[in-house]
Amino acid sequence: MSQSITLLRSLDRRRFLMGSAGVLAAGAAFRFPTPAIAQAAPLKVGFMLPYSGTFAKLGKFIDDGFRLYVEQQGGSLGGRPIQFFQVDDESKPEAGTDNMNRLVGREKVDVVVGTVHSGVAMAMVKVARDTNTMLIIPNAGVNEATGPLCAPNIFRTSFSNWQVCEPMGKVMFDAGHRNVVSITWRYAAGQQMVGAFAEGFIKAGGKVVEELALPFPEVEFQALITRIATLKPDAVFAFFAGGGAVKFVKDYAAAGLSKSIPLYGAGFLTDGTIPAQGEAANGIKTTLHYADNLDNAANKAFLTAFKTKTGQDGDIYAVQGFDAAALMAAGLSATKGDWAARTQVVAAMQAAKFDSPRGPLSFNKANNPVQNVYLREVRNGRNELVSVAGQAVNDPARGCRAPA
Ligand code: PHB
Repeated sequence: MSQSITLLRSLDRRRFLMGSAGVLAAGAAFRFPTPAIAQAAPLKVGFMLPYSGTFAKLGKFIDDGFRLYVEQQGGSLGGRPIQFFQVDDESKPEAGTDNMNRLVGREKVDVVVGTVHSGVAMAMVKVARDTNTMLIIPNAGVNEATGPLCAPNIFRTSFSNWQVCEPMGKVMFDAGHRNVVSITWRYAAGQQMVGAFAEGFIKAGGKVVEELALPFPEVEFQALITRIATLKPDAVFAFFAGGGAVKFVKDYAAAGLSKSIPLYGAGFLTDGTIPAQGEAANGIKTTLHYADNLDNAANKAFLTAFKTKTGQDGDIYAVQGFDAAALMAAGLSATKGDWAARTQVVAAMQAAKFDSPRGPLSFNKANNPVQNVYLREVRNGRNELVSVAGQAVNDPARGCRAPA
């Protein structure tokens, strides 16, 4: 079943998109005894994601992954038909509060699913806390969301910035590298990811000789690549994603550095980007909570279904969207579709354990995933599994007083 999406003009000229999958609403009304009438009404899911800009593909894949799960359940979760609302957050933190308020205040959604960018997510977390709105973060890794700002109504189906990068420190040290340069965008995710990598690398005995950064979402990498060539480190650790990652990897190879100074990174550097990066991506090693060729039944079924639905190869973003819907389904099934039974919904989501395409997935006390982190290498146009860099990695949730 494909969802229809109607483009609307928003009052303040930003793009506002709205779609509906509420096709089962009428039939479902007869499935529940009273007082379940409200439980048969469509559940309003508000996507706040980047549908434009450097992270546009990431947002679209999260959206597609979520819808795939709902479609596989026949258009409803726990008996509730799902109605979708979409806001393009453009990865602009300064618009985050307004965009969130539009979904929560104007559209009165039951849950917000978003976003990709850590800075935007910070604004969303604040509104979610102030309004007690259920929020599921399907990508942004900002540590605070499941750290000092943790709350029972805030879940994440992706990762924390710390979680996917700290294990890389030991990996690079064990590969013989001692002096490393890091490079990223200067914003929360970039800083936290290179910080976590440095934490692991220094602990192992390595040294970060220089931390290079440029403003998000700039892609003028030349001066920084020249600096890397001058410093001649043993290796480079990078975080970029989406369109920016495509350009960085190509520029790095074009400057002739890939052979002499091996490039490593957070897995976002090469996830969903390899077709556009081409040969330049070959041999890049990254850590992430996913690898394309994970040999488990859930991953194989997911990749086949995603390809059938979209014509494209699934990636971590699609998986995170898919799992966001699965997590909601856990809460809704436990209450027979009663999303308003918040305590039980939250308890069921916190206790959820499932076989995600990424491998075993459960949640810690801060509602952040506990999951394997894999070392991958780009080979044959894919992020292929090399080894498990960290088994059931649990973010320390620094600053979180148990939200439940
Ligand atoms: C983030 O801003 O948290 C972020 C953005 C893109 C990614 C990963 C993390 O691929």
